[in-house]
Amino acid sequence: MPCGHALSQHVFFATYKCGDPENMAAACEVDGNEFLLQASISLSFLTLHALKYLLYALLSCVVLFIFFLGCVVVYVLSDCRGQSEHVLTFPSVLHYFFFSDSQRTHVEKAKASDDTDTLNERFTIGGKPPVKEMQAEQPSGVESSGGQTEVPTAQPILKASDHVNDGKVHLLLAATGSVATIKIPIIIKALSKHPALSICLILSKSASEFLQGQSHEQPSLKEISTYQNLDGIYHDEDEWRKPWVRGDSILHIELRRWADLMLIAPLSANSLAKISQGMSDNLVTSVVRAWDFSGLIDGARPGVPLPYSQHRPPDELEGLPEQFRQGGKKGILVAPAMNTAMWKHPVTEKQIKVLEDEWGVANGGWFEVLWPVEKQLACGDTGSGAMRNWEDIVSVVEERLRLRDPEAGYVKV
Ligand SMILES: Cc1cc2nc3c(=O)[nH]c(=O)nc-3n(C[C@H](O)[C@H](O)[C@H](O)COP(=O)(O)O)c2cc1C
Repeated sequence: MPCGHALSQHVFFATYKCGDPENMAAACEVDGNEFLLQASISLSFLTLHALKYLLYALLSCVVLFIFFLGCVVVYVLSDCRGQSEHVLTFPSVLHYFFFSDSQRTHVEKAKASDDTDTLNERFTIGGKPPVKEMQAEQPSGVESSGGQTEVPTAQPILKASDHVNDGKVHLLLAATGSVATIKIPIIIKALSKHPALSICLILSKSASEFLQGQSHEQPSLKEISTYQNLDGIYHDEDEWRKPWVRGDSILHIELRRWADLMLIAPLSANSLAKISQGMSDNLVTSVVRAWDFSGLIDGARPGVPLPYSQHRPPDELEGLPEQFRQGGKKGILVAPAMNTAMWKHPVTEKQIKVLEDEWGVANGGWFEVLWPVEKQLACGDTGSGAMRNWEDIVSVVEERLRLRDPEAGYVKV
């Protein structure tokens, strides 16, 4: 070999100069034949290089495929936990993995804004319960791109009168912004053993934050909406889903009329303060503020005794219309839950006194307080203020609604 160097030099040389053999022969002192030999060697090395890169490409494909398989497995597992109703397609997997929750909601929002029928169906009580994602989409109307509010052609959310004779006991369950909101799924599940119990759930804005599907014990509202017996989930926005006109139902009034018993578990310090002061700036507090405390507005539904007593003498009851004659009254059961310092704060005592002494069922009122317990709280502090354990709460509800009493005269487990 005239160049007498390593093979790689031939490759380089032949390749570099192959456009000009004369020049190359001169520079390298090689004749034409030798040049051809070098060129063919170079060609084989080029082929080898090409094969190497082909191999790299193949390996990359395998790695991508394994990653994709991993995605599919995780997606399917999350599906098993009931967090997804999506069909397993490549775009749905990509969608699941490459969008954050808020982005997902946003994208789904855009998709659903065209689908008013589906929206109405899901909002309708008795049909598929509304889910948070949908409610976030169209609170009081759909924001159009021009900033104008389009009025969705929504049907009425709830008409209590449609459910007077549904043969079910109605529990209006509400949660306000305490960490104990994470017990809501377990409470609903525990009550689902009573087929004659219908539950509607109201969540304050803060309470919704605790049920976003962020952990195993905090399923998404979408998943919760599939629970048996849960016939509706409502948020503040639902009050204003459509600009109100005469004849439209008013959600907080309909929910009150619909309920036989309201349970607020957990009751946050903030909501306790508002309720005891008579404030009503969201859906939960509006229902509470509009409550039939006298027992002389809503009355009992046929075959469904009300949980509390009106404390009226029998002769007074006799003069009342049929639905009030049994002397029953609806009530509100609250389970406060807050940090120990909040619970021990002097203002809390005053507020609890209002609920328990002034408005308490024991004194002829309509409130019942399930006192918090002492334990280590989610924030790390140990002390009082923790929500009563969910078994106690479920048990009190069952008792008040006579779900466990075979003599009560309506369908039970
Ligand atoms: C992570 C987190 C946990 C909270 N836990 C509680 C709680 O256990 N009890 C409480 O009264 N407030 C708690 N708060 C504060 C309430 O969420 C806040 O006061 C809120 O305004 C309550 O609004 P609402 O009563 O309308 O739901 C918590 C806040 C955060 C961010």
